[in-house]
Amino acid sequence: MEFLRLVLVFLHLLGMAMLVGTFMLQLHAGRDAALNKGWLHGGGLQLITGLALMGVEPALDDVDYNHMKLGIKILVLLVILGLAGAFLRKPAAPKWLPFTLGGLVVLNVGLAVFWS
Ligand code: HEM
Repeated sequence: MEFLRLVLVFLHLLGMAMLVGTFMLQLHAGRDAALNKGWLHGGGLQLITGLALMGVEPALDDVDYNHMKLGIKILVLLVILGLAGAFLRKPAAPKWLPFTLGGLVVLNVGLAVFWS
């Protein structure tokens, strides 16, 4: 089970990298570009791996997650996925959207690292 947790953390960190990479691509694509699908893919990976980590927690003796923190991380991620889903089909993403999505990703990284 510990190996499974490590595999899930590995994928969870790759999902974070995908979201950061998508932010870079979105900025590079310019103002009139549509929203990159990477927001949904990276966000979906974070949700699946995060929920799976919560699922394996009861089987691990020395792991004790902070559920208040995880609940807030889920809410932040649902806002990311909701905004991405709402604007994905628009011809151009509004100017505020990439910075809002990127800021919410950074917020979740901060929650993960600074709130134990
Ligand atoms: C944008 C979304 C997210 C980002 C960027 C993110 C980022 C991170 C990062 C950087 C860590 C490693 C922290 C450390 O080792 O100190 C982490 C750990 C974790 N995250 Fe997330 N996360 C996100 C969403 C979620 C969601 C939605 C859940 C729950 C459903 C979740 C559950 C967890 C858990 C359980 C861990 C601890 C893994 C362990 O060390 O055993 N995350 N997250």
